[in-house]
Amino acid sequence: MNRRTIIAGNWKMNTRAQSGVELAKGVAAAVGQHPSVEVAVCPPSVYLGCIADVLAGSAVGLGAQNLYPAEDGAYTGETNAAMLTDIGCRYVILGHSERRAILGETDAQVSEKLAATLAGNLVPIVCVGETLEDREAGKTEAVVESQLRGSLEGLDEARAPGVVIAYEPVWAIGTGKTASPEQAEEVHAFIRKLLADIFSEDVASQMRIQYGGSVKPGNAKELLGQPNIDGALVGGASLAVDDFVAIINAGA
Ligand code: 13P
Repeated sequence: MNRRTIIAGNWKMNTRAQSGVELAKGVAAAVGQHPSVEVAVCPPSVYLGCIADVLAGSAVGLGAQNLYPAEDGAYTGETNAAMLTDIGCRYVILGHSERRAILGETDAQVSEKLAATLAGNLVPIVCVGETLEDREAGKTEAVVESQLRGSLEGLDEARAPGVVIAYEPVWAIGTGKTASPEQAEEVHAFIRKLLADIFSEDVASQMRIQYGGSVKPGNAKELLGQPNIDGALVGGASLAVDDFVAIINAGA
């Protein structure tokens, strides 16, 4: 199965209008019109509109970092799939570990958001990953399995191939400690086996699984070279054009 590599930059809460515009311009210029990898950037929601303007006509997709799973209505402070589509988004990151840890987002909420994302014809990037405590207690597979099954609850098999999974071990996020290619591949292979169990071998072979957690220009090639690693979800290194572009090139 030929899965197209997908590299996405999660800018988290780290840019302003000017720095974001410069970053988006730099990435769009470097990536060109026909990149062999799929590329997206996910700015803070307040800047989605201005980054959409910068990326218009480029090969770089726009992603949001979250959405609220409801139609228009009385939901003060929230943003729904229709609004994200309206402004030019194509991707939505769901269930990032920072949202799970800081905002208490649950698997059940992620599954509702997943349904809303697909109903809005956006591409979901569903994040799962264990903490250091989980890993040291030998619970990596159990935690990843429970997050994955819970987050994908109710997902129609016909829509599953369009869902991107991001494996992000919490202990590797923003710490400079990357999972080794072998450690990452082991969990990615496990996730693909689970996807085959939930859906089918065929569906699992079509689904893309990104790795996230201190991906840098220096480690990207080896990580992306693993058989079950189909892309990267990049935090810190997506904030510098040269680093992000080097990671994209490593996946090409
Ligand atoms: P870092 O690349 O900064 O470790 O962040 C990874 C991440 O959380 C991407 O969503």
